[in-house]
Amino acid sequence: MSKSFSLESIVRPNILSLTPYRCARDDYGTGILLDANENSFGSVLQEEESLLVKDLHRYPDPNQVLIKERLISFRGLQSIDYLFLGVGSDEIIDLLMRIFCIPGKDKIIITPPTYGMYSVCANINDVQVIKVNLDVEDGRFQLKPDKISEALSENPSTKLVYLCSPGNPTGTCLSHTTIKAVLDDPNLKGVVVIDEAYIDFTEETEEASVAKWVEKYPNLIVMQTLSKSFGLAAIRLGIGIADPKIIRLMNNAKAPYNISALTSHVALNALSLQNIAKMRETACQIRAERAKLISSITSITGIGKILGANDANFILVQILDEACEKPNNKRANWIYKELAEHQGIVVRYRGNEFGCEGCLRITVGTPQENEKLLEKLSHLLKDTSVKST
Ligand SMILES: Cc1ncc(COP(=O)(O)O)c(C=O)c1O
Repeated sequence: MSKSFSLESIVRPNILSLTPYRCARDDYGTGILLDANENSFGSVLQEEESLLVKDLHRYPDPNQVLIKERLISFRGLQSIDYLFLGVGSDEIIDLLMRIFCIPGKDKIIITPPTYGMYSVCANINDVQVIKVNLDVEDGRFQLKPDKISEALSENPSTKLVYLCSPGNPTGTCLSHTTIKAVLDDPNLKGVVVIDEAYIDFTEETEEASVAKWVEKYPNLIVMQTLSKSFGLAAIRLGIGIADPKIIRLMNNAKAPYNISALTSHVALNALSLQNIAKMRETACQIRAERAKLISSITSITGIGKILGANDANFILVQILDEACEKPNNKRANWIYKELAEHQGIVVRYRGNEFGCEGCLRITVGTPQENEKLLEKLSHLLKDTSVKST
């Protein structure tokens, strides 16, 4: 870890001196509860309408201890003090900016091509974004630690470095050596955020994840989510993993009851040993389907390379020009629109992202969905009337 790291010196002073919101329920949770202006007569719902979740007229647990206990044994962490729960990782991305970045003054670093929400949140919070592109040569999609170091040195007010592993849209795990280089960089005064939204789709999740590094790096925050591998995007549960000092700041700055009782009820079930095993099994099926999809899609004339290492539940595919020579944005965008507007298949056009010329990002679907996609795609690619210029 960089010797110059001092958490107190990089947190916004107003957050550091914050008196967090406290409710009587933080101290007393049982008895006749007349402290929070809830509806003592109960909710308007019948039992079957409340999806079997009890006590919907009560505010939920602000600390969500039960979920955190399941998460630490699942991820092999030491204590629940290393965990924060948010309304999806998207809440965490935003919360960290509000904790660390003074609007109009502080900066973040991102490494394009990367997940779009880092910039969106920065713009909302009036935080400047410094871009240090990944090494995109041959679809490698790896960090350039020297360039990040230079950017840190030129921008000493950089508070957060957002890295994504496996990346979106790159589908590629970042090498641990380069992540270490950034964490240990003497120019780094701020915190490194590793977004592991897709980590369970990697072949060797335990080795690929850097979640346990938080026990030795106080300047590291890892984000995970139940939205992808657990298939629970609708419940909105994101996980922040970091040194307890950072977690304390996050808890102080969050809305008191950010995780709803409905969400925690579902999340607790999802994190049972049986359902974790099911998640792993599904991730394995998705990997097998991904391999089949790659092998079929690359045999279609008009498809170029699959970029990246394919560590996630999607692939990044090049669409070539009509001469099948070079990746081409115009044709990729045309295919994207045709698929969505006339074939009922929605993929993501990523051609305008750095290093993703002519690319579509395609989520691995069910075998039937993939079959349909391949059929429509090969049909559309036979149409060479769409010029690439
Ligand atoms: C890299 C990455 N991080 C975070 C998210 C958002 O996750 P959540 O649903 O937990 O907010 C996404 C969603 O697509 C993503 O691709």
